[in-house]
Amino acid sequence: MTQRLTLRRPDDWHLHLRDGAMLRAVLPETARHFARAIIMPNLVPPVVTGADATAYRARIMAALPKGMTFSPLMTLYLTESTDPHDVAAAHAAGLVTAVKLYPAGATTNSASGVRDLARVRPVLETMAEIGLPLCIHGEVTHAEVDIFDREKVFLDTVLEPLRRDIPNLKVTLEHVTTRDGIDYVREASGDIGATITTHHLMINRNHILVGGIKPHYYCLPVAKRATHQEALRKAATSGNPRFFLGTDSAPHTDDNKESACGCAGCFTATNTMACLAHVFEEEGALDKLEGFTSLFGPARYGLAPNDATITLVKEEAPVTYPARIETGDGPVTVFDPGHPLFWRVLDQ
Ligand code: NCD
Ligand code: ZN
Repeated sequence: MTQRLTLRRPDDWHLHLRDGAMLRAVLPETARHFARAIIMPNLVPPVVTGADATAYRARIMAALPKGMTFSPLMTLYLTESTDPHDVAAAHAAGLVTAVKLYPAGATTNSASGVRDLARVRPVLETMAEIGLPLCIHGEVTHAEVDIFDREKVFLDTVLEPLRRDIPNLKVTLEHVTTRDGIDYVREASGDIGATITTHHLMINRNHILVGGIKPHYYCLPVAKRATHQEALRKAATSGNPRFFLGTDSAPHTDDNKESACGCAGCFTATNTMACLAHVFEEEGALDKLEGFTSLFGPARYGLAPNDATITLVKEEAPVTYPARIETGDGPVTVFDPGHPLFWRVLDQ
């Protein structure tokens, strides 16, 4: 018997759409299933001001194919010269949903990020006052800290002191990858949530490194050992509203991934819902999928869940997804979990 699952239409609370030809190619992959997404501002140059966000939003809407509906929820890239008044005005105008903190050098296009948190304190205080959430890439960047420890060290040395200092700041710890991060968010007092990506639920560091290096599994924060993956799976399927979906779908062309210095990012937009249904089914938690993909994110950002629905069906035979999509910049490989998928989203 075919299994069917109808959910409120999902939203993606962490997405990279890029710009230009890449934007045109990847946007439909998300808009096909998702109603809204938080759009990451790490373009080159980054989306820093309200005016930048207005212009980027217009480019996204212009790239949306006719007949598709999608609402981009814009973010501003926090820099040490960000003007608190500009942020407050963008929030008051309903233009931005969050501000993004990248520690300088933490990931793709983060050179303009923050080196010294003291320098952005006035912006953070303004955000706490007006209730504008801060989305955080939670990794330290110090050369002496092992890449597998960078999230844990960030929790202890940056996040906890920051939240003690500005307790009313709404924080989303993005793409959490460790048991430490999960425990922190579960137990913290105050206004905190965390996004979990699709790929971090499906891979651990063995998938990247055993039997040959797999550049398409390389992303930041880098996948950790299996015990951490297990903690992420338990949190995502627990029904705790602090944990919700942010795919971090982050397209790079194959040339840029399959390289001696490959870019970080997994492109999961195309098959994310099939992957998530697979994971939730494995965890015996299909009844928790809707909360994770469609209810907890809107609640956290003070928005209503979508009225529209999508229906997933489980097929008897594996469902195939394209290995890559073509973009004007070159092919982009679609995330391959390394085993068959049986779920697919019914065409509307
Ligand atoms: C992202 C990108 O490519 O922009 N890469 C990634 O590995 N996730 C940046 C980010 O979110 O860290
Ligand atoms: Zn990201």
